[in-house]
Amino acid sequence: PQVCWLAPEQTAGKQKPYMYTQGQAVLNRSFFPCFDTPSVKSTYSATVKVPEGFTAVMSATSWEKQKDNTFVFKMSQPIPSYLIALAVGDIVSAEVGPRSRVWAEPCLIEAAKKEYDGVIEQFLEVGEKHFGPYVWGRYDLLFMPPSFPFGGMENPCLTFLTPCLLAGDRSLVDVIIHEISHSWFGNLVTNASWGEFWLNEGFTMYAQRRISTEVYGSAYTCLEAATGRALLRQHMDSTGEEHPLNRLRVVIEPEGEVAPDGFSLAGVNPDDTYNETPYEKGYCFVSYLAHLVGDQSRFDAFLQAYVNHFKFQSITADDTLGFFLEYFPELKEKGVDSIPGLEFDRWLNTPGWPPFLPDLSPGQQLMKPAEELAELWAADGLNVEAIEAVDIVAWRTYQLVYFLDQLLQKSPLPAGNVERLSKMYPKISKSQNAELRLRWCQIVLKNNLEAEYSKVKDFLHSQGKQKYTLPLYRAMWGGSEAAQALAMETFSATASQLHVNVRNYVKKILGLEVTE
Ligand code: BES
Ligand code: ZN
Repeated sequence: PQVCWLAPEQTAGKQKPYMYTQGQAVLNRSFFPCFDTPSVKSTYSATVKVPEGFTAVMSATSWEKQKDNTFVFKMSQPIPSYLIALAVGDIVSAEVGPRSRVWAEPCLIEAAKKEYDGVIEQFLEVGEKHFGPYVWGRYDLLFMPPSFPFGGMENPCLTFLTPCLLAGDRSLVDVIIHEISHSWFGNLVTNASWGEFWLNEGFTMYAQRRISTEVYGSAYTCLEAATGRALLRQHMDSTGEEHPLNRLRVVIEPEGEVAPDGFSLAGVNPDDTYNETPYEKGYCFVSYLAHLVGDQSRFDAFLQAYVNHFKFQSITADDTLGFFLEYFPELKEKGVDSIPGLEFDRWLNTPGWPPFLPDLSPGQQLMKPAEELAELWAADGLNVEAIEAVDIVAWRTYQLVYFLDQLLQKSPLPAGNVERLSKMYPKISKSQNAELRLRWCQIVLKNNLEAEYSKVKDFLHSQGKQKYTLPLYRAMWGGSEAAQALAMETFSATASQLHVNVRNYVKKILGLEVTE
């Protein structure tokens, strides 16, 4: 399942076949023999021979093209097996910074260069300032074929990205800042087991928002964090707060428990535990640690010392929290690990909503107008005058995303409102931006707007990202008969394009038999 072989029609250019690998979490064992656990790190080298007219790229610190279309790669730093990645296709590159190139199929390379020329270096520099040296040499970006199942994958030296990020306006750059942040959290300091995935993702969310605050300011960053919090809310509402996946430390050992809904953690595939909790509850916990310290620059210094202390190692949350208490003896003395309701143990082992939420009020100036506009659209008799007085033309993508999340929460809206909204805001309903398209499709489905079902279909035909695909199939399957028919029709047409994991998750949603 690890190696994805794509026919020409599954690529952006539709001319040549393509292959790529996706290791995280436990897929690389079907690519090469390895200790496929994040607790083991090693260097690697690879020799890859490809047909004429193809280029091979890997997550490696150095590479060289030899005769006979043979590429030789070396990763000189120790990394866990899940970070070894290979892609082969009609791939070209363009420089976007002193240590960065974009790689993509020829038909996408101009768009890729335009989107990220000159911005990557700044993110790297801010990262280095906060978290210490960038040890991986180059930081390149590879834009994948549309079926790539993730927004981004932090393969060292060469992040793999969905082509959906090429929005034309840099609006989805937070994904790149996120993957860059893994250069310290995840790739240098690594979770020793997938049961503590929050160590990778929670710290990375914190680092991402730290960099974003510096580059784009706290208003924008808090708005982005608020959309993350809304995703966590949606996730916990749908699973129930007490679901065992809603704790930071997930016991996925053979003796793992069985949840009330029948979900069994015993011997589970870590990929099946993927959800918002390690990201957003993890972010809250790291923010809580920063709050305990009180002073941002002291917490920054701690993060840098933490990375330096544990670099090239794989660790557990006990290591992290032990180091935190050692680093701040006055906090240890005060017993901050056992404040009632906020015990470190509770953070790690009790499912549920985070007991501490960072203050996102600097985002209010952007959130408030979006909340008010959503209120207006949710009303029974529309106050058209008030609605027309709000000019959304200047709104940033994340402000629109936040507005749409609010509308989705309030949906179904009174009859006729969504149709009017669709006409009034073509900037939203006809958008090509993937984050807006996802929300618009969710609204279409929740309001059963059959006239716009084709948008759901088109979106699912155009890309195969897991976080876009699964919520839409869940919404269709939980909807009307027409929505269920749309799900079946769309799935039969696109199943062969999807990554095998995503395909199997959709099959589960649709009650189809999973054979692979
Ligand atoms: N490492 C993850 C992607 C991943 C997680 C792959 C688990 C396989 C198993 C990556 O860093 C990630 O979190 N990507 C997000 C980006 C977002 C949080 C900004 C994504 O793909 O949506
Ligand atoms: Zn991540």
